[in-house]
Amino acid sequence: MPIDTPSSRPHNRDRLARAVFITGLSFFLIAALLGIFLRLQALEPIAAVNYRHFLHAHSHAAFLAWVFNALLAVSIQHFATEDQLPAFRKVFYLLQIANLGMLASFPFQGYAFWSISFSTLHMTTTFAFAWKLFRKNALPPLGRQYLRTALVFMAISSVGPLALGPLGALELRDSPWYTLSIYFYMHFQYNGWFVFFLLASVIALSHSKKLESAFAAAYPFLTAGCLLSLAQAAIWANFSYLVNLASLLGSILQLIGCGIIFSRIQNLDAGFIARLPYLQRQLLRVALACLILKFVFQFAGSLPGLDVLASHRSAAIGFLHLVFLGVVTPALIAWGISNNWIRNSKTTVTASALYLLSFAIGEAVLFYVPAATLTQWPHLPHTPEILTAAAALTGLSIAALLTQARFNLERAVECG
Ligand code: HEM
Repeated sequence: MPIDTPSSRPHNRDRLARAVFITGLSFFLIAALLGIFLRLQALEPIAAVNYRHFLHAHSHAAFLAWVFNALLAVSIQHFATEDQLPAFRKVFYLLQIANLGMLASFPFQGYAFWSISFSTLHMTTTFAFAWKLFRKNALPPLGRQYLRTALVFMAISSVGPLALGPLGALELRDSPWYTLSIYFYMHFQYNGWFVFFLLASVIALSHSKKLESAFAAAYPFLTAGCLLSLAQAAIWANFSYLVNLASLLGSILQLIGCGIIFSRIQNLDAGFIARLPYLQRQLLRVALACLILKFVFQFAGSLPGLDVLASHRSAAIGFLHLVFLGVVTPALIAWGISNNWIRNSKTTVTASALYLLSFAIGEAVLFYVPAATLTQWPHLPHTPEILTAAAALTGLSIAALLTQARFNLERAVECG
C-alpha cells in the first residue's frame, strides 16, 4: 500500500472506497447465485440441502455483504472525513471476515454457534462505524440529519436479532415474537437504514436549495411514517385493529412525505438528475419509481381486505425484492458508475438493461400469483420455471457488471 503522502491522499480515499464497492459487488453475485440455487431447490429439491439454511445464507450475504459494503463505500468516498479513513479501512477488513464466516457457516448450520458469532462480529463492527460517522461526517446539515437518522435506524434494527437468543431460551421460538423480531430487524434495515441513507446521499449530491427545502419539509413525515409502518410487519399476528391503524397512519405519513418531495422534484428534474449521464439517470428514475411503489404498497397492505395479500409469501418476497432490487441496487449501481468504480461502457448499459428486465419479470410474477388468488384471474403456469429463469438472467447481468468493475485506480484515472 503506497505511503500516505498529502498528494496521494484523494487516491487513498478512492482506492479504499473502490475496493469496498467492488468487494460488495462480488458478494452480490454470490448472493444472486444463492438466490438462483433457492429457486432451483423449489424446482428440483436436493434432499441433503436444508432450504432455510441457504435462505439465511442468501439474505445475510445480500443485506450485509452487498448492500452494507456498498453503503460503506459511498460513506468512505463522500461522507467520511480524512482522519476517519484508517479506522474505516479496519472496519472494512473486519466486516469481510464476518461476511466470509457467515457464508461458510449459514448454509451448513443455519443459526448456530459460528454463524451467530460471525453475524455478531458484523453487528458490533457496524456499531463502531455508525458511532464514528454519527459523531463526525462531511455532510451539510440536512444531509447529516438524514444520515444520522439512517444510522439510528440501523442501530435500532439490531434489537431484533439480539432478542432471538433470549426468546429461544424462554422457549418462545414458535411464538409470533420470534418471527416479529426478524421482521423488526428487516423493517429498520430496509425501510430505515437503506432508504434514509440513500436520501442523505441524494441531498449530498444535489447541491440544490429547493430540493433541500423539500427534503427538510418531508423529514418529519418520512421519519414518523417509518416508525409507525413497523406495525405492518405485525398485521398477520392479528393482535388488534390498532396495529392496522398504526400501519395505515404510518403509510399515509410516508406518502405525504413522498408527495412533498416529488411535488417539488418534478420541476427540478432539469436539476441534478438531468445533469447525470443517461444510464445513471435511468437507474435513478427506476429507483425513485420503485420507492413510490414501495410507499403505495405499504399503504395498500394496511387496508382491510388487502392486508391478506401482504401476508401471502409470494407478495412478501415480491415486496422485499422490490426494495432490494428495485430501489437500493439500481441507486448503488448508479453510484458505482458515477464514481468510476464501474465503467460506463456498452457492456454496462446492456447488463443494466438485462438486470432491469429480469427484475421486472420476477416482480410481475411474484405479485401476479397472490393477486390471481384474490381476483380469480387465470392461473399462471410454470411460475417456478419463470422465476428461476428471471433469477438466472439477473445473476448473468450482475456477472456482466462485475466484468466492468475498475479494479485499478491508475487505469481508471487514465481512462477518465
Ligand atoms: C440478485 C438477485 C436475487 C435473487 C435471485 C433472490 C432470490 C431469492 C429467493 C429465491 C428467495 C426465497 C423465496 C422464498 O422462499 O419464497 C429470497 C429470499 C430473500 N431474499 Fe433474495 N434474491 C436476490 C437478491 C436479494 C437482495 C439484493 C436482498 C437484500 C439486500 C435479498 C434479500 C432476501 C431476503 C431478506 C429474503 C427472505 C429471507 C427469509 O424469508 O428469511 N435478496 N431471495
